[in-house]
Amino acid sequence: MAVKKLFDLHENIYYQKSQFEISELECEKEFWNVDETISELAYLTHDYFRYYGKFPSKVGKMILEDLIKGNVIDKEKDFVIDNYAGSGTTLVEAKLAGIDSVGLDINPFAVLACRVKTYNYDVSKLRKTWNHIHGELFKYNNVDKEDLLSCVIQEVDDKKKRRIEEKTRELVANTEFLKWFSDKVIQQLVIIKDTLLEMDYSKEREFFDLGFFAIIRRVSYAHDAEVRPHVNKKKRKRDAIEAFSKKITEMLDTMDEWNSATCSQVYSNAYLTSNADLDRVTNIVNQEKELRKKELGAVVSHPPYLNCFDYIPVYKLKFMWAEGFEEIFGEMSYDQIKKSEIKSYPVNNDEAIERYFVHNYNAYRNVYNNLRDGGYCCIVIGDCTVKKELFSVHKSFITMMQELGFSLEKMAYRSTAYGTGRYAYNFRADYSEKKDSKQDAILFFKK
Ligand SMILES: C[S@@+](CC[C@H](N)C(=O)[O-])C[C@H]1O[C@@H](n2cnc3c(N)ncnc32)[C@H](O)[C@@H]1O
Repeated sequence: MAVKKLFDLHENIYYQKSQFEISELECEKEFWNVDETISELAYLTHDYFRYYGKFPSKVGKMILEDLIKGNVIDKEKDFVIDNYAGSGTTLVEAKLAGIDSVGLDINPFAVLACRVKTYNYDVSKLRKTWNHIHGELFKYNNVDKEDLLSCVIQEVDDKKKRRIEEKTRELVANTEFLKWFSDKVIQQLVIIKDTLLEMDYSKEREFFDLGFFAIIRRVSYAHDAEVRPHVNKKKRKRDAIEAFSKKITEMLDTMDEWNSATCSQVYSNAYLTSNADLDRVTNIVNQEKELRKKELGAVVSHPPYLNCFDYIPVYKLKFMWAEGFEEIFGEMSYDQIKKSEIKSYPVNNDEAIERYFVHNYNAYRNVYNNLRDGGYCCIVIGDCTVKKELFSVHKSFITMMQELGFSLEKMAYRSTAYGTGRYAYNFRADYSEKKDSKQDAILFFKK
């Protein structure tokens, strides 16, 4: 019988790659203060969509400013990619700084958020569409109150009414849906979804789709404060139509400000893909180079932390409502998406660590292959604890990037008032300046 080898962190080859002193490195070293609160960091469209694992907008802003100031990238000739784009923090900051940008992510909600948060919408057109949607929601939400609303009811489309009733019946009979949503909320979400899917797919519809997916968690029984959804029996009941209307109204108000702060000529786009897929990443980069007549001058990215649980199941309530939004989800099924996501939790064996670093090796090899000579790859990465021992993940990243051919030009550690929740505090970074403590690092590599 095979004897299972015991896991010893000190013998792990990736851990061993972190065993050097930062003082031995000849690059520039800085300390960045990022002491703003979450609400101070959530300006403009950063606030559109709650996304777990965001990095502070100020970090994205500071990195891009650094690259421009140091003449590393030229706005006229270069574009930037975030290959772990998440909800588009880098892309929003790139647009504000006047730099073309592209995001890659494996989470369709992240890709949708990137696309909507960076687009300059015609607000009067959006408001007109919103008047129509709002009218429909009001009508079908009140369809049973015939005495009060008989004049409105006359305009009810029987086919749509039946569609909504049938779908509501089907979902209310589904125990998984009933576990997470009340009958009333299911019916209201069916009304919103039906109304959105009646519209042709367009950039405009994406705006309202994002608002729809943004409220799912809030109107469910899931705890608001936890990352992974768990039922909270005491949660206050919320009205889904009201929550959606509030969300869209806020988004519309912000869009005016966003349009004044940005220039519509500055391009931004996002793609659903695994960053470890060389052909797909190379095709996207080549297509963007061709279209924009620009080079890939820099990559700014923030991989999930080692020992940080996978993100896709965090969005499982939203995925329950995703059927029919084909343009957003492309051809990948939930299971394919889940399988392509980088896995890094729980870290209690060599295989888990290997999987994490092999994925990153492939993702940054793709970056190396596609970046122009002299281009930069900036990685924001924090340390973690494995079996109560410090793993200086950022140092292993330095070794990995050097093995790929990059040179480390500069690094910064950062402070933060952000992300020090219970989970982060115990397992990730405590962000002190003490030697031998967990650190959050910003690494600037040059090709
Ligand atoms: C730490 S988050 C990035 C958050 C982002 N910086 C932001 O501010 O929203 C890491 C991201 O990596 C994405 N991811 C995981 N596996 C991936 C893969 N194989 N290809 C592309 N993205 C992936 C996750 O979906 C998640 O959005």
